[in-house]
Amino acid sequence: KSRKPMVAGNWKMNGSLALLTAFTQAVELSTVVDKVLCVPFPYLAAAGKGDFAIGAQDCSQFESGAHTGDIAVSMLKELGVEYVIVGHSERRQDHGESNEDIAAKVSTVLKAGLTPILCVGEPLELRQSNTFKEYVLEQLKAVDEICGRSALSQCVIAYEPIWAIGTGMTATPEQAQEVHEFIRTQISDWCEAAGHSRILYGGSVNASNAELLFAKPDIDGGLIGGASLKIEDFVVICNAAK
Ligand code: G3H
Repeated sequence: KSRKPMVAGNWKMNGSLALLTAFTQAVELSTVVDKVLCVPFPYLAAAGKGDFAIGAQDCSQFESGAHTGDIAVSMLKELGVEYVIVGHSERRQDHGESNEDIAAKVSTVLKAGLTPILCVGEPLELRQSNTFKEYVLEQLKAVDEICGRSALSQCVIAYEPIWAIGTGMTATPEQAQEVHEFIRTQISDWCEAAGHSRILYGGSVNASNAELLFAKPDIDGGLIGGASLKIEDFVVICNAAK
């Protein structure tokens, strides 16, 4: 593949400072894969010592101001954060984030010079009714239209079918590849450079299934939830992306 593989761990609201310390001491990983660890906000300051880039799990769409409890991207940057997950399905569901809100966040992150990890993916009903591609397309289109033609080429995209997240129901490598190829074709239609964006798969990736998923031509690595909390599993998954 011409794109450098990436494995990003998303701890979600899990972990502890002790676990982070164990990760920073124990994880020594191959340099042919970009490794990112997206830890909860309070742990970001301590995450810089490890053999991985640091990611946040969200940020405000605003640059500063009266937004109690929100985190500005400039604050993340001060801590050495390089990536920000934007539009995770748990944010869309739990916090009602719309495609437009998410596009606004992508724009804020890009303006600050950080890289958004933009999450897209359909709920089970749309997979079953075979309308999932249209849904994913709408999610991407909002970013393309609101942030401008070159925005998607500057994002890492994560395809995470909601039915596969935390359920153990991993998409098969073929199911994932089909959507990744679809995404790549669509976004390169809008902007040629976007065809070179990395597209990660997320949804119940583990130490046993990672290799077959990452072997597919349009799967450039993974966004890993549960399995990124176990050092041994995370190392196996990172190595599977080589
Ligand atoms: O951001 C990560 C994804 O939501 C996947 O989570 O690996 O626990 O299924 P999972």
